[in-house]
Parts: sequence; structure tokens; C-alpha cells
Amino acid sequence: MMRIAVLASGRGSNFARLLEEQAAGGGVPYQIVLLGVDRNCPAAETARTAGLALYSAAARLIGMAEWERGFLAQASALGVEGIVLAGFMRILSPQFIASYRGRILNIHPSLLPAFPGRDAIGQALRHGVRQTGVTVHFVDETLDGGPIVLQEAVPVLAGDDEASLAQRIHVVEHRLLPQAVRLLAQHELQVTGRTVTILEG
Ligand code: GRF
Repeated sequence: MMRIAVLASGRGSNFARLLEEQAAGGGVPYQIVLLGVDRNCPAAETARTAGLALYSAAARLIGMAEWERGFLAQASALGVEGIVLAGFMRILSPQFIASYRGRILNIHPSLLPAFPGRDAIGQALRHGVRQTGVTVHFVDETLDGGPIVLQEAVPVLAGDDEASLAQRIHVVEHRLLPQAVRLLAQHELQVTGRTVTILEG
């Protein structure tokens, strides 16, 4: 059983999805033991309701270095082995990433390397692409640039706006992220350079 911490800044629907999957039983190989947030957000409320350990510190007030120190202390006290970024709106320091290298996943609402950074769904719409999608990738020191674990395309339909496209992207996210976390927890992801091989269990 891999002990996982989730980091979020917003709605936390992906976080909630991971919790649901865990609660449904069915033998998931991970256990979410901690949520870290950098601001007050709905995700924090979900953690409180679920009775989950919550690291809630305002990064805007204390700075990111202090935020990371506090989080890492709590993560180590809880025996966290892997970290999932699910709508976490901050850049992590190279030292933080080094301390969990190869064990941090991020979910991004585009087919990377297209449209990294903020507002990926708006970027895709403004660019006029016919297909966008979802990427789950390992986090390294580059912005949304680490080795890709899972990707799935989502078509852009005539008349789509940000809300309608985001809704269809979320449906895919809620399936892809739990799948990637299961693979990480079962040690079925092997990274060679930029290539991630999925080892069949
Ligand atoms: C998702 O679209 C994710 O890809 C991006 O932030 C959003 C988080 O959504 N990184 P939620 O907070 O999980 O609902």
C-alpha cells in the first residue's frame, strides 16, 4: 500500500475522485493520508469532511520555502511515499522535487507538450485545435514538462466554450488520474529518459 499525499489549490474534484475510489474498497493499492493546500479552497473542506490529515498554510503569506518545509515535515511524519498534484497552482522547488524524485505525478488539462502552464483549456480553444485532452506526467524541474505517464485526447466540438470543454475534460481526468496513481503505487511505471514504460503487473 503506497501512502499518498495530494496537493490542491481549488475545487478538488480529482482529489475527491481518488478518495471515492479508495472508499469504494475494491483493493486500491494506495492510501491517501494527507491533503496539502496553499490557500483556503473547496478541496480543504473535502479533506475536513473526510477526516483526512490536512496541511493548510497560506503560501502567499509565509512564502513557498516555508510552505514546503511545513508540508515535508508533516508528509514525513505520516510516512508519505508519493505525491499527486491535482490542480495545485504553485511551482515546487528543485529541492522539494528531488526529495520525492520519480514519485510525484501531476494532471494537466491538455495534450502536453501543447499548452503548458495556466489556462490550458482557454489556450486550446483560442488556438482553435480540434483535439485537446488530458495528460498525467511525472513532475521534474520543468513546467508541465516531465515524462508522460498517460494521455487521452478529448475532441473540441463546434460551439464549445471553456465550461463545456472543461466538463468533458474532467470526465477523462477522473478516470486517468486514479489509473496513474494505481500504476505508481504498484511500482508499474519505469522511467527511462523521457519514456515511461508501463510494466504489466
Ligand atoms: C484539472 O483540470 C487539472 O488538470 C488541473 O487543475 C484542474 C483541477 O481540477 N491541473 P479539480 O480541482 O481537481 O477539480
